[in-house]
Amino acid sequence: MTGRAADSPRPPPDVASAPRPTGARVITLPPWAVVSDGRRSHIARVVEVIAIWAAALALPAVERAAWEDAARWHDALRDAPEAMLRAILGDDARDAGLDAAILHGPAAAARLVADGERRADVLDAVRWHTIGSVTWDRTGQALYMADFLEPGRTFARAERAALAERVPRDFEGAFRDVVQMRVRWAVNAGKPLAPQTVALWNAAR
Ligand SMILES: [Fe+2]
Repeated sequence: MTGRAADSPRPPPDVASAPRPTGARVITLPPWAVVSDGRRSHIARVVEVIAIWAAALALPAVERAAWEDAARWHDALRDAPEAMLRAILGDDARDAGLDAAILHGPAAAARLVADGERRADVLDAVRWHTIGSVTWDRTGQALYMADFLEPGRTFARAERAALAERVPRDFEGAFRDVVQMRVRWAVNAGKPLAPQTVALWNAAR
């Protein structure tokens, strides 16, 4: 269904003919990246999902580049050893009590800053993509959704595909539902929720 709202400035994307992410896109990662082949394919699919949304939304080039860069870099250190991540973050990780599972986001953001990256939306998207942030703008929200909705994940395929198709038509509504779905899956899997995730859950209700 692709019903058009009366005040919609342009037709909604034609879902049936929209390009599908394949993970085949060749992506260039920073030289400090530590990723397996499987991870690289996941990153490529997240970039593809984000690029499809950016095109459907006709985003300005600056915002589109921010979304795609955040997607490209978010898991650049996902397969790095914990000791390396803690060495990159130094006292920041210890002081913040950061759990091992989320270190790769803040560590990648730190490396990007060292490389000269200054876009706050890109850095915050990468930094908090695992646990979420209530202060995100659309860059962080888009990455949070694309990371979860990319089609290479094998669970809840139909529900996630429907959410991915909804994003260009109803970005805020889809984000709320993705937050709730991600938190639900984390709770069902017995994973602890970071305070930032709880705050995001409360803000998205
Ligand atoms: Fe990811």
